[in-house]
Amino acid sequence: MIQPSGPAVRRVAITSVGAFLPDRVIPNAHFEKIVDTSDRWIVERTGIHERRAVEPGTGCSHLASRAARDAIERRGITADEVDLIVVATVTPDMSFPATACLVQDDIGAGRAWGFDLSAACSGFTFALGAATQFVASGGADKALVIGADVMTSITDYEDRTTCILFGDAAGAVLLEPAEEDEGILGFNNKVDGSGRDLLYMRSGGSLRPPSHETVDRREHFVRQEGRKVFRFAVRSSAQAAEELLDEAGLTRDDVDFLVCHQANARIINAIAKRLRLPPEQVVKTVHKYGNTTAASIPTALRDALDRGAVKSGDLLLLSSVGAGLTIGTALVRWGGERVAPGLRS
Ligand code: UT7
Repeated sequence: MIQPSGPAVRRVAITSVGAFLPDRVIPNAHFEKIVDTSDRWIVERTGIHERRAVEPGTGCSHLASRAARDAIERRGITADEVDLIVVATVTPDMSFPATACLVQDDIGAGRAWGFDLSAACSGFTFALGAATQFVASGGADKALVIGADVMTSITDYEDRTTCILFGDAAGAVLLEPAEEDEGILGFNNKVDGSGRDLLYMRSGGSLRPPSHETVDRREHFVRQEGRKVFRFAVRSSAQAAEELLDEAGLTRDDVDFLVCHQANARIINAIAKRLRLPPEQVVKTVHKYGNTTAASIPTALRDALDRGAVKSGDLLLLSSVGAGLTIGTALVRWGGERVAPGLRS
């Protein structure tokens, strides 16, 4: 969907990007000690060299609040100027209250309301889509969109097919009414629930409440049919991107940077190949952060900004696939960060 324009709606821009990565680094060598794997297999099949992890007992809201504060401080506003907080996560501190409520209290966003959104690895793109509508309609002037996950809390460290993949992180962006020539151009967000059995956490919800039996069966951990998800991710991401570009009257030649969900370097390379984008136009952090689920796109964007790669006027293609299955795609005309005066170089 291309963002509507006209007197009743406002174009919306990402004006600040924050991130939080835990200090603890887990190299591939760690997994060689606990499961039957090797650094070589992990690097060849995923591109991951290391990932970050929180100390056990750290909740998602802690990471989400740190990323939110980073975004707010970079913008030079106070938390009580925020109207709306949307947190995308599949690893909330608890089923309820929502992580958004915990973040609202932690950062002191006294005027904000908020909610959580569950779309797994597409969580950030879906939350961006939802929050954009509030800012576009005038329902919010400043919205925080946070992607945060503590994947180490739902990872089975006896399962070599998944445990090597995931890391913990949070990223946050601030949405505000756009200036001329910048902003979020549109979304192509989709779900395909027929793929529900390809990537899931079996127990812990209302269908299979947690019990000794579900824990004994290790159903409180993430599982996936990796090869099938891989194929779906490549095919559907490229197709959704083509559809959105087409709807926007743009082509793949107009794209300056592909900011993909960071699940696997081979998936990212395959999507880039289909879109005929050269490596220098592809943002990658999977080698150092692993798959951080809802956090991967905003933390990758923060990384690209820190490297000075993304410039004002660039067209960014955000793209994700996750459990659901969910497909998230967004086009953003980057207008630069609205940096706090003290932070200007
Ligand atoms: O973030 C949300 C979306 N998720 C994704 O996008 C993940 C998509 N999938 C993937 O990234 C890849 O499928 C994986 C990285 C999970 C697996 O890579 P693959 O190239 O698809 O490997 P595979 O599952 O086809 O397994 C190949 C072989 C198997 O052995 P056999 O059956 O050929 O003897 C696996 O048992 O590799 C074996 N294997 C491992 N070997 C060493 C699986 N995991 C490991 C491991 N170390 N950690």
